[in-house]
Amino acid sequence: TQATQSFKDGFLWGGAVAANQLEGAFNEGGKGLSTADVSPNGIMHPPNFELGEHNLYHQGIDFYSKYKEDIALFAEMGFKAFRFSIAWTRIFPNGDEQTPNEEGLQFYDDVIAELHKHDIEPVITISHYEMPLGLVKNYGGWKNRQVVDFYERFANVLLDRYHDKVKYWMTFNEININLHAPFTGAGLYVENGEVSEQDIYQSIHHQFVASAKAVSYGHELRSDIQIGCMIASMITYPYSSKPEDMQKAMQQDRNTLFFSDVQARGYYPSYVKAMLEQKGITLQMEQDDEAILQAGTVDYIGFSYYMSFVATTDEELLKDSTGGNLLTGVKNPYLKATDWGWQIDPIGLRTVCNQLYDRYQKPLFIVENGMGAVDKLEDGDVVNDDYRIDYLRAHIEQMALAVRDGVDLIGYTSWGPIDLVSASTAELKKRYGYIYVDRDSEGNGSNRRIKKKSFDWYKRVIASNGQNL
Ligand code: BG6
Repeated sequence: TQATQSFKDGFLWGGAVAANQLEGAFNEGGKGLSTADVSPNGIMHPPNFELGEHNLYHQGIDFYSKYKEDIALFAEMGFKAFRFSIAWTRIFPNGDEQTPNEEGLQFYDDVIAELHKHDIEPVITISHYEMPLGLVKNYGGWKNRQVVDFYERFANVLLDRYHDKVKYWMTFNEININLHAPFTGAGLYVENGEVSEQDIYQSIHHQFVASAKAVSYGHELRSDIQIGCMIASMITYPYSSKPEDMQKAMQQDRNTLFFSDVQARGYYPSYVKAMLEQKGITLQMEQDDEAILQAGTVDYIGFSYYMSFVATTDEELLKDSTGGNLLTGVKNPYLKATDWGWQIDPIGLRTVCNQLYDRYQKPLFIVENGMGAVDKLEDGDVVNDDYRIDYLRAHIEQMALAVRDGVDLIGYTSWGPIDLVSASTAELKKRYGYIYVDRDSEGNGSNRRIKKKSFDWYKRVIASNGQNL
């Protein structure tokens, strides 16, 4: 298929990963334990502090020792950018140390050097779905203001060390996760109980402040640095034209837009203030917080896009819900879904791009998108993942249309260019990669890397700057 509109020169084609989902080596190099290390069943399930349970995150796909081989494969596909996260616990094992762990920093020095060797732009997520367990156990997670200072120390160490080597950054992955998985997002946990909304919103406030401080500090160090927010986009359609459905869809979207609103505009929107008041939640704010938020607005809007959602007020329909990484919702009769129930909606991506660009007038960066599927390794090391190619092609076509609509889009890093451990369900059976990893959900396999059919396809897409789909 030929897309009609070309992407801009220097468009950042590539892939995205997270430390805890692929590095492995969870207790090597001086690394401390993170929240992911005690979440054997994924981000939507309660942690198990005992550590005994089979946990795929502990070994990941061993990127820690195979990163050179993996980056060489990304380079072969022609990657312009590679988004990865820094494991906080490699740098500050318990989170509250005064000085960083040099061995941890050296690992990322090496990864960055390797990317540069292949002319791949590193894109860093400072915090992706994991925080030091020490900050959970000893400080109670992000509800504690002190964690802002610990994050600041962590972020500043990274910015000091890498600002001249790395231009693109994100402060928190899918920051709206806090509303849906407070342990993963904020290290909040109540045994056999519910985390209070007061604690959730207080933690979110602390992350906004921490993020804004990192943005301001980055700007001091390098004037052309680009530091973005990162939200899991969750566009919601009204199921019907019933005004109540529309109202519900709007309210649901605000659970997501709240985050980018604060990070892109630098203040709490009136609808959030009203909502907090109605819930009886009072945020503890320090005197400078408003000024910090205002000064630290992001340079671009990073977001993930996997699916769209539907809102209805119809009780019967509500009984029939479908899956997603953060939310479950009502089935959209016009869409097909993946084996994990994620509704495939390429046009929704065009809509999201337009909405976000209209709202903020800041460049957009699609930092995750992709299809989790069961792949079959056939004789002769062949994986015919045509369904993945179809999914990605359809989404890239809609991206091109969004650009034609006038959206300023700077890049696209699809999720998991190499198979890795999934976040919501902690499996290896659910694969996203162009590169197959011979390792299964039980943790068995040789860890060998094998190119799938989509490998050559994506290479062609990048070589043609998105024209040859
Ligand atoms: C996003 C996360 O929500 O979705 C990633 O930022 C995650 O960490 C991705 O892996 C896909 O979700 P899953 O559950 O299929 O791995």
